[in-house]
Amino acid sequence: MSTPRAVCLVTGAAGFVGSQLVDHLLAKGWSVLGIDNLSLGNTAHLEKALASPLFQFSQLDINDYAALRSRVEQAQAELGAIRQVWHMAANSDIQAGVRNPNIDLERTFLTTFNTLKLMDEFAIPELAFASSSAIYGPHDQALTENTGPLFPISNYGAMKLASEGIISAALERFLRRVWIFRFPNVVGPRGTHGVIYDFLHKLKKNPAELEVLGDGSQEKPYLHVSELLEAMFFIVEKATDRLNFFNIAPRNSATTVKFIAEATVRLAGTHSKIRYTGGSRGWVGDVAKFRYSIEKLEKLGWSPKLTSNEAVEQAIRDNLWLLTSTAKGGA
Ligand SMILES: NC(=O)c1ccc[n+]([C@@H]2O[C@H](COP(=O)([O-])OP(=O)(O)OC[C@H]3O[C@@H](n4cnc5c(N)ncnc54)[C@H](O)[C@@H]3O)[C@@H](O)[C@H]2O)c1
Repeated sequence: MSTPRAVCLVTGAAGFVGSQLVDHLLAKGWSVLGIDNLSLGNTAHLEKALASPLFQFSQLDINDYAALRSRVEQAQAELGAIRQVWHMAANSDIQAGVRNPNIDLERTFLTTFNTLKLMDEFAIPELAFASSSAIYGPHDQALTENTGPLFPISNYGAMKLASEGIISAALERFLRRVWIFRFPNVVGPRGTHGVIYDFLHKLKKNPAELEVLGDGSQEKPYLHVSELLEAMFFIVEKATDRLNFFNIAPRNSATTVKFIAEATVRLAGTHSKIRYTGGSRGWVGDVAKFRYSIEKLEKLGWSPKLTSNEAVEQAIRDNLWLLTSTAKGGA
């Protein structure tokens, strides 16, 4: 439990992970300033948070540095000095970044660059950062934090790796402590993107048939967002090096796209025909198969309860409302 009224900044606060992180930080007694440009996020995700006197939200682009700076100055005058930044803002649409590299340069890398500039200027000491399995690129073995060489194959992964690099350089110059979380695929309520979100939207449009990119053999670990949040808070509390970096994932398990497609059709009750477009990769830049080792995290003392398949099924249930809803946001 944090000191009551400690202040933090959450970037990407209206997004899938960011909005649920905000709810948890408020519940732990933090005052929170949330920033999001709503490129993918949705203020409907912040309905609960916005009712709290401890929460302030601004729709602004982190890369509009003058606006960011003045908003933070105002928030610090009202709430007190910001102690931690949780940098969640990024482009989470990996395929969009493959088509247009500017998207990842701006939303994934420059948001990190400007967040660090802000932390330097306002002497904010601690950073928690959402990194990704995409930094590793393709490897045959289960990915550990020491896996290398690191050659990402998507612009998104490249800009996340560059972000990690500039964060470690900032640690040398002015930051006091950093926690880097290398997420796998994260699933759960309030999704803004990703395979379950896509499948449910496709089924809503055409319940007769579900089109699946690739041959369904792509196989990755999926973690439920509730467990991701638990793990992140555990790491921030227990990992006390200056530079802390951890894979977070279900233990020894991964899920095929075929399983996700079949589970979606089963749980949606649509009896849809599943049509695979073929090929072993969903799209250019997709690491089609990987496994994650979480030995380092388990040594620190945290283990997940759900398998990857269980997390996927839970997340499909969380999002079934998308089939009937006309709204963009949700619980
Ligand atoms: N969800 C996953 O499976 C997953 C996997 C690996 C890493 N991550 C990382 O976790 C973080 C959260 O991801 P998410 O799934 O919640 O995605 P998300 O898209 O729902 O959240 C990211 C938020 O950042 C905002 N944003 C983007 N550019 C911005 C800018 N220039 N200024 C202000 N706001 C901006 C978007 O509007 C969005 O609300 C991201 O950094 C993402 O790269 C997510």
